[in-house]
Amino acid sequence: MSDVTTAEFNEEGKYLRKVKSFVLREGRLTKGQAQALEENWPTMGLEYSPEPLDFAKVFGREADTVVEIGFGMGASLVEMAKAAPELNFIGIEVHKPGVGACLGSAAEAGVTNLRVYHHDAVEVLDHCIPNGSLARLQLFFPDPWHKKRHHKRRIVQAEFAERVRSCLKIGGVLHMATDWENYSEHMLEIMNQAPGYKNQSADGTVVPRPDYRPLTKFEARGQRLGHGVWDLMFERVE
Ligand SMILES: C[S@@+](CC[C@H](N)C(=O)[O-])C[C@H]1O[C@@H](n2cnc3c(N)ncnc32)[C@H](O)[C@@H]1O
Repeated sequence: MSDVTTAEFNEEGKYLRKVKSFVLREGRLTKGQAQALEENWPTMGLEYSPEPLDFAKVFGREADTVVEIGFGMGASLVEMAKAAPELNFIGIEVHKPGVGACLGSAAEAGVTNLRVYHHDAVEVLDHCIPNGSLARLQLFFPDPWHKKRHHKRRIVQAEFAERVRSCLKIGGVLHMATDWENYSEHMLEIMNQAPGYKNQSADGTVVPRPDYRPLTKFEARGQRLGHGVWDLMFERVE
């Protein structure tokens, strides 16, 4: 398994410090996660290298492909992959215990249409996902970076919207969900200004949770406590 971060240098060889959407606090892997990685990384893991991925070769078939950024422990991603065997799924996560947990659940569920990167999604989108190749890109409950001075760390920015647009097919959808109202407003503001997208919401704001997105445990608890969840879906039109 490769390292999560890749150093970036400019033409003069000067190190460029990039603002990341995550801070790596690598907790120890549990025994189960370590074992799941060892057993399943060879079949489900995608080694990062800065070149376009050949989906047909990786999955052994032609099918619509869905990418999920920041799948956490992967429970809902595995559930979605199991429920939609006709689709290819690629998960991207920087947190190694999460990658281990996801591979463990995928193996247990007998899922064969899922592959996983342990890397920064921004770099994977920039270098590995071919232009115009995705049916959907999912970003569920990204780190909200509550404090104003940290908002620059939020992954959803104008640059991100443009990066995602080039990965999506025409008609492909960027689906985001958040439980932090201020982040949903930020997402809407960015996406309203992003060229080439159409909001799938009838009133130009949010959409009801589509059936394919499973309700997470965390979300169900939040709902019981009266917390909100906002789903936003934008289609690539140009
Ligand atoms: C708040 S958690 C949500 C996890 C999961 N989607 C859920 O709903 O339970 C956000 C996740 O995004 C991951 N993450 C943040 N920035 C990332 C990036 N640039 N590339 C890959 N994963 C990232 C974090 O490691 C974390 O696991």
